[in-house]
Amino acid sequence: MRSACEQNRRYFRRAYETGCHGWQASEPSAYVATNLAAALTSTVERRLLDLGCGEGRHCLLAARMGFLPVGLDYESMAIRRAQANARRAGLADRIQWVVGDVFALPFGPGSFGVVLDYGCLHHQRKSDWPRYLAAIMAVLKPGGYFLLSVFSTAFRAYGPQERSWQLAHGAYRRFFTAEEIRWLFGRRFEVLQLEEERDGVRGFWHAVMRRE
Ligand SMILES: C[S@@+](CC[C@H](N)C(=O)[O-])C[C@H]1O[C@@H](n2cnc3c(N)ncnc32)[C@H](O)[C@@H]1O
Repeated sequence: MRSACEQNRRYFRRAYETGCHGWQASEPSAYVATNLAAALTSTVERRLLDLGCGEGRHCLLAARMGFLPVGLDYESMAIRRAQANARRAGLADRIQWVVGDVFALPFGPGSFGVVLDYGCLHHQRKSDWPRYLAAIMAVLKPGGYFLLSVFSTAFRAYGPQERSWQLAHGAYRRFFTAEEIRWLFGRRFEVLQLEEERDGVRGFWHAVMRRE
């Protein structure tokens, strides 16, 4: 029997091998663009960590805006694509890429002024949330910004179920409420903004938080 973690990894490996995954490969999210621009005006810190960066769309955006991004993902194929995308965009020397796990970050304390997670936390089990929070706290400077985008319960696939998670093609997906986000992060972060995006099929929470 495979662990949930192994199943997730198999899912992402296959997603990148086939190129058939349900998220945008190149176009950055407008929410991330807006929230990064706001962070840029409020902090002089330029080092940014993108957790579960995938093919690097948000690192490319951040580099163009003047950040010094580090993209981290445990899928080496995603990182290879991200590197190629950065080369094509003429941004290769502005972005660092790391094959690594969110739960074993290879960075020193307070290495980053901004941490970004678009679509990684909602693939982690609730039992792993404390480790996830500890990982961010270890690398984000006090006063630094954390930008989070996760599935909301408005996601149609969530359906009228009792439980707030599902396994889809082997991947764990969690659908968050606003209360859960505040409960998980509210003790360590000031939640500056929490906005839900709905398009009739998908639902996302986009949060901007500042480490206390
Ligand atoms: C839904 S994709 C989003 C990719 C990217 N953030 C974007 O917006 O295009 C989630 C990504 O998180 C990565 N991931 C999931 N769990 C991870 C973990 N524990 N450590 C590192 N990367 C992880 C996956 O490999 C995948 O690339």
